[in-house]
Amino acid sequence: MPTTRVIIDTDPGIDDALALILAFASPEVSVEAITTVAGNVSVSQATRNVCLLLDVVDSHPRPPVAKGAARPLTRPLRTAQRYHGEDGLGELFRFKTEAGESRYPDPRQHLAPQPAPALIIEQISAAPGEIVLICIGPLTNLATAIQTAPAEMAKVKEIVIMGGAIQAPGNVTPVAEFNMHTDPEAAGLVFASGLPITLVPLDVTQRVLLTAELIDALVRHVGGRVTQFVHDATERLFRIEQDRTGRAATPLHDPLAIGAVIDPSLVTRRPFYVQVETGAGPAQGMTIADRRQMLEKEKQPPNLQVCMEVDAGRFVAIFLERICRPLT
Ligand code: RIB
Ligand code: CA
Repeated sequence: MPTTRVIIDTDPGIDDALALILAFASPEVSVEAITTVAGNVSVSQATRNVCLLLDVVDSHPRPPVAKGAARPLTRPLRTAQRYHGEDGLGELFRFKTEAGESRYPDPRQHLAPQPAPALIIEQISAAPGEIVLICIGPLTNLATAIQTAPAEMAKVKEIVIMGGAIQAPGNVTPVAEFNMHTDPEAAGLVFASGLPITLVPLDVTQRVLLTAELIDALVRHVGGRVTQFVHDATERLFRIEQDRTGRAATPLHDPLAIGAVIDPSLVTRRPFYVQVETGAGPAQGMTIADRRQMLEKEKQPPNLQVCMEVDAGRFVAIFLERICRPLT
C-alpha cells in the first residue's frame, strides 16, 4: 500500500485534533508538515493546540509546525470557542493528574521559521506531484500560497478541503458552513484556482457521528493516553450536543477529510462547478454548486470533485480502530 505524503492545514478545534490523531495512526499517510490558521480559535491558540496534540501522540519524527494567518483575508476573525471551548480543545485545563497537576501541561513549541504559506509552497515545490494538502480550517493560508506562488502550487498532487454545504443546510448560518463562512474570499480564490480539489462538505461529514457512549466504551476497554485525550477533549462537547440536540454525538467533520485520503473508496466524488458567496448578506459563505441537468457545454466546467456519498459505518469503524492503536 503506497503511503501518501500529506500536509495538514488546521485550526484545532476538537475535530481537527481527532483528524490529526487519525492521520498519525494511519500508515496510509505520512504527515510531512502541519500548518495552522485562525478559525475555531486564534492562530496562536491553534498553534499551541497542535504542539499539545503532538505531545499526546508523541510522534517520531515530529513534523515541522508553521504558524499561519491570524485573520481571514479581508474580514475580522469570528472564532467558534463557544463550541470548542476557551482553549479550542474542550477546556483541557480542567483535567488534573492524581498529583493535582495539569493532565495536559503547556506543550513544547518548536515552530518552523517560515510562515505557513511559505512552508506549504516549499514542500509542494520540492516534491512535484507527491504532496496532498488537506485543509480542515478556513482557507486563508491556501489562498495566500496560491496568490504568492501559483506555478509552484500547481505541483500539488491534490487538495482535500473539509468545508461547504451543497444540499445540506449550513452549520453557522442556515446556508453556510464554518470554514467557508469564516473566509469566503479565500475560498472563492481557491475554488477558481484550477487546482485539483476534492471538497468534503457537510453533506457527508454530518453522517459520520462520534457518540459519547462509543468514547466511554473505548476508555473503559482500551485505555491509553490517546483515548483519554479523546475522552477529555470531547466530554464538554457531548454535554453541549446533548442539551442542544438531545443526543451526545458530534460529527467527525475534519477526520473524514483525512479518511478520504486514507481510503478514497469511503466517499463518492461528483464533479461540480462550485462558487462561494462573498457578499455580506445572509448568504455569506454559501457554497453554490451547479447541479442542473443540462448539456455540459451549456454551463461552466466543473472546478471541484465534491464528496456527496459516504460509507459512514465503515469510516467510523476505521476511526475508532485507529485511535485505539498503540502509538508507534
Ligand atoms: O464546519 C466544520 C468545520 O469548521 C471543521 O473544520 C471544524 O473544525 C470547524 O473548523
Ligand atoms: Ca477545523
